[in-house]
Formats: sequence, C-alpha cells, structure tokens
Amino acid sequence: MCGIIGAASSRSVGKILIKGLQLMEYRGYDSAGVVLNKEEEILRLRSLGKVSKLEDLMISKKPRALSGIAHTRWATHGAPSEENAHPHGSHDDIFIVHNGIIENHEEIRDFLRKESYEVTSETDSELIAHLIHFYNKDTKDTLKALMRATKDLKGAYSIAAVSQKEKGKVYAARQKSPLLVGIGIEENFIASDPLAIVNITEKFHMLEDGDFSVITKDDAVIFDNTGAKVDRDELKIEATATATTKGDYKHFMEKEIYEQPECIGNTINGRLGENDVLDNVFGLGSSDAFREVKRIHFVACGTSLHAAKTARKWFEDICEIPCYIDFASEYRYRNPIVENNTLFVTISQSGETADTLAALNYAKEEKYIGIVSICNVPTSTMARESDWKVFTNAGPEIGVASTKAFTTQLAALLILALSIAKSQEKNPEKRKQAAQDLRETPALIEKAFKLKDEINSITNNISSNDNALFLGRGMYFSIAQEGALKLKEISYIHAEAYPAGELKHGPLALVDETIPVIALAPEDSLVEKLLSNLEEVKARGGTLYVFGNSSSTIEIKKGKFINMPECGDFNAPIVYTIPLQILAYEVACLRGTDLDQPRNLAKSVTVE
Ligand code: M6R
Repeated sequence: MCGIIGAASSRSVGKILIKGLQLMEYRGYDSAGVVLNKEEEILRLRSLGKVSKLEDLMISKKPRALSGIAHTRWATHGAPSEENAHPHGSHDDIFIVHNGIIENHEEIRDFLRKESYEVTSETDSELIAHLIHFYNKDTKDTLKALMRATKDLKGAYSIAAVSQKEKGKVYAARQKSPLLVGIGIEENFIASDPLAIVNITEKFHMLEDGDFSVITKDDAVIFDNTGAKVDRDELKIEATATATTKGDYKHFMEKEIYEQPECIGNTINGRLGENDVLDNVFGLGSSDAFREVKRIHFVACGTSLHAAKTARKWFEDICEIPCYIDFASEYRYRNPIVENNTLFVTISQSGETADTLAALNYAKEEKYIGIVSICNVPTSTMARESDWKVFTNAGPEIGVASTKAFTTQLAALLILALSIAKSQEKNPEKRKQAAQDLRETPALIEKAFKLKDEINSITNNISSNDNALFLGRGMYFSIAQEGALKLKEISYIHAEAYPAGELKHGPLALVDETIPVIALAPEDSLVEKLLSNLEEVKARGGTLYVFGNSSSTIEIKKGKFINMPECGDFNAPIVYTIPLQILAYEVACLRGTDLDQPRNLAKSVTVE
C-alpha cells in the first residue's frame, strides 16, 4: 500500500528518494511522485505506473535539491491518475504526501471551498496541503500549522510535508499509520517503511500516534501531541543486502518459497527445549498468564487468518480449549461476546494491517485476559500494542503473496499451543511429539521442494483453465483455502476451496471434464472419508490432482497423484502447504502475470 519517504541531506536527495520508493514497490501502488525543494524553485514530478517512469522523468530534469518528499500511491479516494498522485500542493508553497484515509474529507472539502481553496484532485490527501496552508497564514510557522491542521483530521494518517520557503526541512505527523525517523550522517529521513532507508541508515526512531517531527540534515526533533519535545527509543534495524534483493531468483515470491526451511529454523530456534517449549517465550510473565486461559479468540486477515484456522486443531487437541476465529474486518462490528479467561490472539505478517489493528484496539477495551501477537515485523504497531508476542523471524517478505509468513506463523502458533498446554500441564506426550515434529520441519520442506518437476508436469493444465477447485478435510481444508488464495491472487484464476465433505452439497455441480480439482490427502484420521469424496469427482469425469502419501490409495485415470514426503502429525500441514505455493508460482509464471505485485493488491493493507 502507499509508501512515504522524505529526506534532508548535505547531498542531493533525488536518487535517495527514488531508491526509497523502489524499495517500497513491493507494498503495491499504482502511481508515484516526488517533490524536490530546489534552491531556486520547488519541482514536482508525478507519473502513473512504475517508479522507473518517475525515475526517467527525474533524470531528464537533472535536479539538485537538498530536501524533498516522495510517495507511491495505492488508490483509495479517486482513480489511479497523475492528478491524484502525490505529492499534493497548495499555492506552490506547501506540498504533502499522505498514507491513510481522512474520514471527514467531505466536511473539510466544504470548509476549504468556502475559504476559496481550489481542490484539483479527487483525493482526501490534497485537502491536508490546503489546510496546512490555511493555518500557516495565521501561524506563520509550518510546524504549528501542521499541528493545527491535524486537529481537524479524523481518520488515519502519516504525513510528510515541505514548504517551498524552507529549504532543507521536512515535517512529519503520525496518527494510526506507521512513520519513522531515520538518523544518518549529515542527513536524516522520514519513512513509512524502514526498508525504504535501511540501506542508508540502521538508526531509527518510531513515531507514536500524535507525534510530529521536523528533520534537517543536522537534526531530527520529535514532538508529542502537546508540542513538547520528546525522545523516542532508538531502534536498530539491520537488513542484509540479500534480504531486499532477489539474488538469483526470478521473483521475490520464488526466493521466499525456497527460504522457508531457514525461516522455520529461525522461528523455532531458542524457543524449544529438548522435549518441550521453553518458558516465557511470549515475554516475561506469559507462562504464568497462560495458566488461566480457558478459550482463545483469533483475529486476522487473509493468509494470516488461514494460519489461525489451520492451527485451531492444535489448540483443541493439545490445550483442550475451544477457539473462536474472526475476520478482523468483521470482528468488532458484531459486538463479540467475550467470556472470562479468553485470550485474544492477532496474527499478521506486517503488524500494520488496519483491520487487524482496529480489532486489536477494540479488544483492548474488552475483558480479555491479554493480547498476544504473532507478527513478523518487530517494529510494527501490533508488536508494540500487544501484551505478549512472538516474532516469526522470517525476514522481510516482499512478494505480495504470503509464503514464508504463513508457514512461520503456523510454527509460531504451534509454539503458542505448546506454551499454553505447558502452563496448564496438559498432554506432555503430545507436546514432546509436536516439539520433535517442529524440529524436523525444515528437512521435510527441503524434500517437498524436490517435487517441483512433478508439479510442473501439471501446471499447463491448470494455467489453461480459468477455474480451479481445492479440496481438503480438517486442517487441510484451511491449507486448501490458502492454496486457492495463492493461485487466485497471483495467476488471476478463480479458485475456491471446500471441505471435501461439502462437495455434494453444491460445488459438485462445477465438476466437469475441464475444471482441475486439487486435493490434499495426507495420512490422517480423515483420509478414508476424503478418498470417498474424491470418488464423487472421478465419477463425474473430473480431473484430479492429489497430493498424498502411501495411505491415499486412489487410482487416478485423469490427473495425477503426487507422492508427498512422510510427515509427522504436527508438521504435515506446514509441509503440505509447500507444493501449493510452488504450483501457484509456476502457474502464474506460465500466465505471465506480475506476480510479485499482482494487480489491485498491496502488501500491507493499511486502510480499512
Ligand atoms: O500483514 P498481514 O499478515 O496482516 O496481512 C494480511 C493479508 O492482507 C495478507 O495475508 C494477504 O491475504 C496476502 N496477500 C495473501 O497472500
């Protein structure tokens, strides 16, 4: 979703800003723009489409400016167009870039019209530039005008602003949308995503809601919502060069699929003892608190929600406690009934998903015994807002389609199930088995990678269809849902997942000779039932692609059986995810889609 970068430096900032935008391209966007506060004038450049177009435009102008702001936009208010692209300006003086949504934009638009401001775009963001300009007429101080303007805004925002009259200065404001200050040598930065500047500095201060900042090349000052100067903790974020480049891979998604053995290792390292989980891995006091947990409420979106749905069985089997699962976007609107001793668990790769954060804030006001987050980004809002947390340690995930985030979330969820069961002294044998299975997972994933050629032998049939049906039972229904989501988001094939037993209640009508039916048939207590359901597909002449093992004895006349590595009960769901990721990736390659940045999607969905 949208990305912000601002810089004040002793060197020309054009390239820094463009590079920052490129490093945030993975977030998804449709247009880009930059404002360079040159000595003699202010230069604004905007373009629809890729940042490389903006870069070409900038190179042709050869600007030299020691401060500026830049933005990638993912359209919310107003279509993707050059006019709607940021930065937005007021009277060739104040220019701003904005992430988030201003909910009371109609009201502000009316006010500005009455004050004779001409609004030229369809965005809510442009209004911010005019408001700052309006208040600056009185305050004659850009920071004060920015502070005053934000008092009028309802909603979520992170803003970077410059004034044509003040060379070398960048202003910033944050409310419910991430923004940080980066500290360099003779230069300082503002960014909505540390990845934008992680190649030029490792020192950051995360702004808190209500904070403002002013940076120059020599100084970075932070103010709270009363206008008082404040210190925010310094964070060190190191990103190795390899974390943000594709290396020898064609796409980030491909790289991220093949990183999974190492990532799972990083999720479990230091958290498992010989036969059990270690104490307090979710933070000091967590093991004591978990003793009281009688039920769990999971809230997440997309892939992260699929992780919760998959893991539910672990909590029921190992902890013997019931679980409730909600879409984050639905949760708070249905006035959930929270019983005593319920633990609230959010799951998010980015830790910045607006729906999930809104749910978390809602949950804080309810009588949960605490909030646990499973998250990949230690500096995220979610991590800071939770009572207890565990980081998945998967490293930056750049591909819009989540891969390593999902499997590491599953590993972290199993660790959470073990922690709760250990605190409640339940099922030591199962805990021992689960810990052992977790440790064997990376090696099993390596084995699953070896199926790539077999998977490639079926991708032509799948890529030539516009529909696909995924089937599974129990936990593997949720894995099937994740497989269908992967296929649809990057190949644009319409893919649905069903619990195989539901087939006869409707979806069986879709089955004909053409639609590929992809089924997960691991050796578990439901495999016999699943095989009967697959017979229903065969009887209708359907094409079956089954991922199973020796116990899944099904003769396939049309389609293919792909033999999976023998897995343990607790790692099989993770391992069965791998061929579905490879399948989606290879099919999307055949269809030639922009699979790291699929159409209409953003990596981190920071608007409701
Ligand atoms: O960062 P989060 O895990 O909170 O993101 C949630 C979803 O937006 C995300 O999982 C989305 O569904 C992925 N693109 C799926 O691959």
